[in-house]
Amino acid sequence: MSTDNDQARWTAVDAYVTDLLAPADDALTAALADSEAAGLPRIAVAPNQGKLLHLLAVTQGARRILEIGTLGGYSTIWLARALPADGRLITLEYSPVHADVARRNLARAGLDTIVEVRTGAALDTLSKLEAEGAGPFDLVFIDADKVNNPHYVAWALKLSRPGTLVIVDNVVRGGAVATPHPDDPAITGTREMFELVAREPRLDATAFQTVGTKGYDGLLIARVTA
Ligand code: SAH
Ligand code: DHB
Ligand code: MG
Repeated sequence: MSTDNDQARWTAVDAYVTDLLAPADDALTAALADSEAAGLPRIAVAPNQGKLLHLLAVTQGARRILEIGTLGGYSTIWLARALPADGRLITLEYSPVHADVARRNLARAGLDTIVEVRTGAALDTLSKLEAEGAGPFDLVFIDADKVNNPHYVAWALKLSRPGTLVIVDNVVRGGAVATPHPDDPAITGTREMFELVAREPRLDATAFQTVGTKGYDGLLIARVTA
């Protein structure tokens, strides 16, 4: 268990790091402010995590990115800014309210020609993407309903190429992931996702624990090998 004191220290370090290495600009600040004003939950990635997504996408030389779970488009902005002018990011969001907020935030950030927000349950919109022949994507960021994490990783694999990077948010959840939680579908889904990744020969992966403004959680990063 972490104490209030731990959390205060983690938040202070995030503030220190973010001020120096991942400072906000008007579009990022407004995206968070308008998300909050619209009543969206405050669960976007932290700024230094957004910067990590951005750096991974740049390192990847990404031209096509898929995001599952848009919220107000905050992580979307960090990812889309890694793309060249003719790049493309498709982000999938269940809530039409969240999607509308995201579209406005992305337009203000000047990213509306690069980003498409698709509304609907991701399992449906992923099927449609496949039917359209979309992909392969160079990077997939999975950050939606955790119960479907195994399905989302399977879809990411389907829409990938060798070298694609698959990133899953919130895989530690205060340490809960380490033991079975039969009554918590989110943890169960994430544990099934870990087992799928572990036995999937086409994925080479790691996961790591994080502390910061969002508490104690973690990320999984997998590379498609074949
Ligand atoms: N990636 C965002 C945060 C996403 S929060 C960021 O860091 O800025 C999770 C989002 O997933 C919420 O907006 C929620 O509405 C959406 N979501 C939940 N279930 C979903 C589903 N079945 N299909 C698509 N999106 C879903
Ligand atoms: C929750 C979802 C997230 O994607 C996140 O990063 C943090 C919290 C949630 O549903 O509580
Ligand atoms: Mg998340």
